Amino acid sequence: MKRILTGITPSGYPHLGNYIGAIKPSLDLLDEKCESFLFIADHHALIKVWDPAKLKELTHQVAMAWLASGLDPRKTFFYRQSDIPEITELAWILSCVTEKGLLNRAHAYKAAIDANKESGKKDIEEGISTGLFTYPLLMACDILCPNATHVPVGKDQQQHLEMTRDIAHKFNNRYGEVFNLPEAVIGDEKTVLGIDGRKMSKSYNNIIPLLGSEKDLKKSVMKIVTNSQEPGEKKEWKDNILFSIYSAFANEASLNEMKHKFEDGIGWGDAKTIVFQELNELIAPIRENFEKQKGDLNYIEDVLQENGKKVRETTKPLLEKVKSLIGIGSF
Ligand code: ADP
Ligand code: TRP
Repeated sequence: MKRILTGITPSGYPHLGNYIGAIKPSLDLLDEKCESFLFIADHHALIKVWDPAKLKELTHQVAMAWLASGLDPRKTFFYRQSDIPEITELAWILSCVTEKGLLNRAHAYKAAIDANKESGKKDIEEGISTGLFTYPLLMACDILCPNATHVPVGKDQQQHLEMTRDIAHKFNNRYGEVFNLPEAVIGDEKTVLGIDGRKMSKSYNNIIPLLGSEKDLKKSVMKIVTNSQEPGEKKEWKDNILFSIYSAFANEASLNEMKHKFEDGIGWGDAKTIVFQELNELIAPIRENFEKQKGDLNYIEDVLQENGKKVRETTKPLLEKVKSLIGIGSF
């Protein structure tokens, strides 16, 4: 049976890009014929989020984004990484199998080194934590500990999946077959642009929030960057930020209608109102679920704890097997 697994790092507020690019396609992928594991990677977030209250808030936000978008925690193992101690235990064991050179080649680490070089730092490793360096190893353990077979991720994560397979293969070769060699499932989801025209990202302060109020939503749509063309002037929809954001969620018929409106010279304010209204229709049910459930911390905690226990029914025996193979444990 297929075992699908993916993780989400709670390092920012959930936004429209996350919904279109990750939440919706993952929910669409789930069906009765596979087991699915979906977790909140709070240990990974520690690399960037150092304010404890913020980390808790973001973990809650990310959990809520999934639950409010329709994730059924009775059908999917929906859990918090830090509730599964076998993952971090496996991380040490596999660090002794993983060559340092493999991690040296990780894109995120190399980018951090390059940034240091560019800014003329004497020590090119300055400010780079061991956590950032070993991130791909912990990610491998997220995947290998429940022994997943398929991992839906964005293209930027492909290298991490290759490393995971490499690490699993090394272990299997040295000690015996334990781990599946998991496959990356790379979707062809579009990149949603942010209100400034760059990729929508929590790092750029350009997001359309998924769980904000209707007022927040309207405010962010009204801030989408346009040009100084007046109502009545014909507008180009190609390479237009507002049109591009609209095309991330509108259907074919609505898009065609919008193209005509652009050609007929619709004013930016009116076009934004249409985008806001349709986006609000998409997001309103998610927001309503969020508003209903967000205060019930006990419910969310119960969901995560219960699922965590169930996941450990898989991860505990796996770790026992690993330990017995490597020679760790009681006489
Ligand atoms: P961010 O760029 O805001 O830091 P993450 O890297 O945490 O977002 O991404 C979480 C998930 O959401 C990933 O699967 C990623 O592919 C998806 N995602 C993030 N931003 C976008 C976007 N602008 N368009 C489409 N998908 C996105
Ligand atoms: N690194 C992933 C990201 O930044 C998040 C993640 C952590 C993950 N562990 C994972 C994704 C395991 C898939 C499988 O998007």
